[in-house]
Formats: sequence, C-alpha cells, structure tokens
Amino acid sequence: MPPRNKSTDRRMKKSARRAPMIEVRHSPIHGFGVFALRRIRKGTAIIEYLGERVSHAEADARYEDKTEDDNHTFLFTVDSKTVIDGGVGGNEGRYINHGCEPNCESSVADKRIFIEAIRTIQKGEELAYDYQIGRDVDDAPNVDEIFACRCGAQNCRGSMLAPAKAPRKRRARRTAGRAKRKTR
Ligand SMILES: C[S@@+](CC[C@H](N)C(=O)[O-])C[C@H]1O[C@@H](n2cnc3c(N)ncnc32)[C@H](O)[C@@H]1O
Ligand SMILES: [Zn+2]
Repeated sequence: MPPRNKSTDRRMKKSARRAPMIEVRHSPIHGFGVFALRRIRKGTAIIEYLGERVSHAEADARYEDKTEDDNHTFLFTVDSKTVIDGGVGGNEGRYINHGCEPNCESSVADKRIFIEAIRTIQKGEELAYDYQIGRDVDDAPNVDEIFACRCGAQNCRGSMLAPAKAPRKRRARRTAGRAKRKTR
C-alpha cells in the first residue's frame, strides 16, 4: 500500500459524511468484531486505529501483570519507538479481529495506522486484517496455542502470530515481560 497522508484524512472525512460504514457487534470469531453496514469498495480507508501513543517500555509496563495465557491485546506497533494502546482512548478500530484470509490491511502513514479494504467487502461481512503479532525470544513453547486463531478461513494458519522465521543468531536484547502487540 502507498504511504498515506492528508489525502487519507480527506477520503475518510468524505466517507464519514455518508451513512456509517461499520458497526461493532458480537463476532463469531471472538468477542466483539466490526461489520460492514454497506458495501465497501476495495481501497477504501475505513478507519484510523486510534488510542494512546506510548513507548514500548510504557506498553510493557502497562500490561506486565497479564498472565502468559492471556492472548488479548489492543496494542499496535507503529515503529521502533511508538505503540498505540487502543485500550486507552481507542475507537471502533480496536475491535477489528484478526483473519488469515483478510479483507482489510493496515498501513502506516505519518506514524498513524489506517485500516483499509483490500477487496470489495459486502454489507454484513466482518472486517479482518492479519495481525502478524510479533514473536519474542522468551515466548512460551506453546505460544501458538495461546494465540490460536479462530478466524475460520479455509487456509487459516492457526495462529495470530506472524509466521515463525528460520532461526538465526541474534544479539542479546531485553524481552522479558514484553507485552504482545500487533505489528501490521
Ligand atoms: C484488538 S482485539 C479485537 C476485539 C476483540 N474481539 C474484543 O472483543 O475485544 C484483539 C484480540 O481479540 C482476540 N481475537 C481477535 N481475532 C481473533 C482470532 N482470529 N482468533 C482468536 N482470537 C481473536 C484476541 O484475544 C486478540 O488479542
Ligand atoms: Zn486464522
């Protein structure tokens, strides 16, 4: 996706003047989800992922009490410095669930995250994008089980985590107690 700036804002303001595009309601995938209230065309910038912008250290500190088997996260990585915490000051964007065969995609522009349609979405369809949640060196051996995906897609990869990379030598880095976040 190309980088977005003022034109994304303009497009989102224009579509906000029309009848609402989405609503939040119970989802067959998990908890609440976001559903199309009308047909959404491919390329439409649907919503900005809003929330408090914090450092990675602050995001980790905020959720350090979470147990290892808790897979719920409203955190979204913007870059190496910033994480958006959708749990604080967030909008409906935080309720979009993960899907392995998604109809949406996230993109970063001017350090902001936008969710947009990557194909035409029909009225009533649930919106989803691939979270690609980051892996960490100290992840529990059953981390894929903890972050198991329930998207129901035919080619569901079974996990909300980014696919594992082939092992390689890493520099030592502090990862203990790192709160999981979406990276895409
Ligand atoms: C940003 S929230 C999405 C809204 C969530 N359904 C809710 O009601 O709060 C992300 C969390 O929803 C759950 N989730 C989202 N997509 C999922 C999926 N495909 N399979 C299982 N759980 C999912 C996970 O707990 C994930 O950390
Ligand atoms: Zn899946």
